[in-house]
Amino acid sequence: MDRGSLKERYGPWALITGASAGIGLAFARHLSAEGFDIVIVARRERALAECKTALEQEFGNRVRTIAADLSTEVDVDRVIHETEDLEIGLLINNAGAYTVGAVLGSKAEEAEATARLNVIAPLRLTLSFGAAMKTRKRGGIVFVASNSGYQAVPYLGVYSASKAFMLMLGESMYAETTGTGVDVLVMSPGPTRTPGMNSLSGIDFKKIPMAFMSPESVVISGLCKLGKTPSTVIGFKNWLMIFICQRLLSRRTLLAFTRWTMYKAVDPDRR
Ligand SMILES: NC(=O)c1ccc[n+]([C@@H]2O[C@H](COP(=O)([O-])OP(=O)(O)OC[C@H]3O[C@@H](n4cnc5c(N)ncnc54)[C@H](OP(=O)(O)O)[C@@H]3O)[C@@H](O)[C@H]2O)c1
Repeated sequence: MDRGSLKERYGPWALITGASAGIGLAFARHLSAEGFDIVIVARRERALAECKTALEQEFGNRVRTIAADLSTEVDVDRVIHETEDLEIGLLINNAGAYTVGAVLGSKAEEAEATARLNVIAPLRLTLSFGAAMKTRKRGGIVFVASNSGYQAVPYLGVYSASKAFMLMLGESMYAETTGTGVDVLVMSPGPTRTPGMNSLSGIDFKKIPMAFMSPESVVISGLCKLGKTPSTVIGFKNWLMIFICQRLLSRRTLLAFTRWTMYKAVDPDRR
């Protein structure tokens, strides 16, 4: 059954976290091209202002910027407060960060900030905007998780645990919201060429055999699954790898293999 365009289903407003770069920026561009008015959230005010100007000029839509550090409770609440006048019909929980290194040895401040950004912020935004969607019987919620959420990843432990949380949360919500008019999707990209990935310190991804996708192809592959499936692994190679690892290897074997791969790539002082 054709359910119409994304804008017909969820518009007019979409809110995208981490929208000033990488996958979030690709979401902002794609949804603007689809005719959405958008709220873009990130920390750097100037980068947001540049995105706003570029998007409004190219697509003629309304773009509202909110400079906010989503690893803080006060800023997450401010995002909710500053969009009270809008009907947010599509929420893209995209902003995320990595803590590279062994869990024991991580700086508590950094690990906890990662957990607040990757876990608490999307949970809080989802509870707030999702409640309004449930009342309206109309809306879409996307969680940008990761291949790393499907298995434990030594030396990216906080990150993979945070993405596993997203995966379980979103899949549970998908089942709970079936037939309510609210669609929930967890999309899990694999390696994607983004500023964040390019500048990640403490790990040398050249030492791990990985095929990179573009942010644009990640967004297109993910959004077409919204309303159709609880979760999707982006890219056939990534899907195949997860399928094989989950179905054919014991958790212990998979962990040993992942540790061996990651150990070579992570900086010695972070092991
Ligand atoms: N790239 C990959 O290979 C890959 C693979 C799997 C999953 N993912 C997931 O995809 C999502 C996007 O990743 P990406 O690689 O596109 O990221 P990225 O290039 O690092 O961009 C991150 C975006 O989030 C914003 N951001 C970062 N920290 C923030 C904070 N504390 N509060 C608010 N905004 C914040 C950044 O802007 P400011 O710096 O201005 O805040 C930027 O707009 C993440 O959830 C990531 O885990 C990425």
